[in-house]
Amino acid sequence: MKRLMFGVLISVPAFCLAADPEVGDFGKTSDGQAVEMYTLKSNDGLTAKIMTRGATLVELHVPDRDGKSADVVFGWDDVAGYESEDNQYFGCTTGRVCNRIAKGKFTLDGKEYTLAINNEPNHLHGGIKRSLDKVVWKATGFSNDRGQGVRFSYTSPDGEEGYPGALKVQVSYFVPAKGTSLRISYKATTDQATPVNLTNHAYFNLAGAGSETVLDHMLQLNADKYTPVDDTLIPTGKIEPVADTPLDFTRMKKIGARIDKLTDTAALGYDHNFVLNAKTDATKELNFAALLRDNSSGRTLRISTTEPGIQFYSGNFLKGQQGKNGKTYAYRSAVCLETQHFPDSVNHDDFPNTILKPGETFESTTMYQFGIAKPAEKN
Ligand code: GLA
Repeated sequence: MKRLMFGVLISVPAFCLAADPEVGDFGKTSDGQAVEMYTLKSNDGLTAKIMTRGATLVELHVPDRDGKSADVVFGWDDVAGYESEDNQYFGCTTGRVCNRIAKGKFTLDGKEYTLAINNEPNHLHGGIKRSLDKVVWKATGFSNDRGQGVRFSYTSPDGEEGYPGALKVQVSYFVPAKGTSLRISYKATTDQATPVNLTNHAYFNLAGAGSETVLDHMLQLNADKYTPVDDTLIPTGKIEPVADTPLDFTRMKKIGARIDKLTDTAALGYDHNFVLNAKTDATKELNFAALLRDNSSGRTLRISTTEPGIQFYSGNFLKGQQGKNGKTYAYRSAVCLETQHFPDSVNHDDFPNTILKPGETFESTTMYQFGIAKPAEKN
């Protein structure tokens, strides 16, 4: 590799460090806090923009089969958009506990805790004003020989949104220089036992955010089982097979093919937690979770994770709000594939544990790998 420096051509070794990511202003919150935006780029055409409010993925540009780039996630042009009623957790880091907690109550070490009810009659996605998606995080950009990243950190004080313990959270986004992928890793520590369940709430449409529907996308989920819910979307505690139901995505299926056959649920479409099958290769850190494909653009997205579950939500509450670049976000025009522990785990002893104790470190990683479908792949 050659680089021009002070008018002299010098040789730079091929393993040279990637440059630190660009950082710019993204305006201010309504209470005057400055918000920054970091831009991470791969050499093969992926660009991710992430802001400090809610450590939120704002833009994600990836090439289609002709090399044409499109932004494949929902978002807003400014912080005011993110603060508006129309924002349904677009791209944010979700927590302290993502998904639902029944009636906003749990008991830990003999003490009962009460959280905000913001999704009648339950608690959803960490609360109202100070959930992790609404606070402004500190950020540090970095680079190494493999790519560019940004590390966000936030300390949620004891009692914030009703949760016990001061929780130190770190979320890192990393874009490898090679290929078209984005890795999100989470770390948390606490000074008191407390529930933690973190995810990213990106809304994907691989034909480009703002395309009419996602019902034509193909999806595969690495899950033979799911957690059935009651009529408020709280798990009953049972774990049941997906076989012979519209929840069977063990092989690639069109999202829209059976969505209106979902009869046993209060969700207005797919809004279910799937139990990921055990890892087949113990030497690998990440387990295959989901494969999404859009035949029109050829874009594919493969998600792998350390998490035990994935919430597949088909955008049933989208209402035609206007987002980035004047695009309309129609009913069922995006999917969320939220890798996480099961909903309401704090009230289900036999679900994978979500209680973090002092001295322990919560760690979790999810990889989003974009690609191009082979022409023969249609089903
Ligand atoms: C999650 C929930 C959905 C909905 C969205 C946000 O995916 O499971 O029911 O609340 O978040 O609108």
